[in-house]
Amino acid sequence: MTGKRVVKLPAMGMTYFKRYRMEFDLRNLRSDEPMVPAEYELVAFAADQLREHAIAKYNSFRYELDADVFPCLARRDGCLKLMRDITSRHDFVPQATWLIRHLEQDPTTGSICKLPVGTIQGLSSDGWGAVQNLGVSPLHRGKGLGSILLAKAASGFASVGLEKMHLEVTTENTGAVRLYERMGFRKSRIVYKAAEVAGARS
Ligand SMILES: CC(C)(COP(=O)(O)OP(=O)(O)OC[C@H]1O[C@@H](n2cnc3c(N)ncnc32)[C@H](O)[C@@H]1OP(=O)(O)O)[C@@H](O)C(=O)NCCC(=O)NCCS
Repeated sequence: MTGKRVVKLPAMGMTYFKRYRMEFDLRNLRSDEPMVPAEYELVAFAADQLREHAIAKYNSFRYELDADVFPCLARRDGCLKLMRDITSRHDFVPQATWLIRHLEQDPTTGSICKLPVGTIQGLSSDGWGAVQNLGVSPLHRGKGLGSILLAKAASGFASVGLEKMHLEVTTENTGAVRLYERMGFRKSRIVYKAAEVAGARS
């Protein structure tokens, strides 16, 4: 016996994910913004919040389809690096970047903890606002937080003079597609994103 163990890794293969590019005309933006529920706090971007955005992003995406499309979303350090990369770009739009914290009372001390549970970031390119990584962590979904983040990003883009915005969403992510359509986004075309996925047929 040599003591050597052979660990069989799942075969990697290239998968092409079908995604919609969806667009929204910011001139159609309604001025009434939805209210955040009482136990949540909506926070405008500040440079000292990168870790909080990264935590919200990781908890929102790690078990989701998009973590196959963008493997960095399944890793804490990957999410932090992504936040650093996005916010250091020349086309970063802080006005379209928002965080939601959940306010929770510690049952023993009674003190209030603030946990980051939702995030969205914005970039601008060629006159378009580009939405990056809208995510709400699983326990906090279905309460309107995703819609609020999207509405805040839209008004942030409009506040810096942009007239249209777009995003990409994996076609299988039907819940998110429905949310975007309800908000007024229209599918404009199909794009493919290649990613290495374990166990995929190459
Ligand atoms: C998509 C997402 C941001 C929606 O956040 P949310 O706070 O639940 O959004 P809202 O409460 O404003 O709207 C809920 C809508 O989202 C849909 N939705 C999508 N995924 C959902 C989920 N896992 N749980 C609850 N609602 C979900 C619901 O169907 C609902 O639409 P409906 O009212 O037509 O049924 C959230 O589900 C999420 O973070 N998903 C994983 C990450 C992701 O895929 N992000 C989008 C990348 S393009």
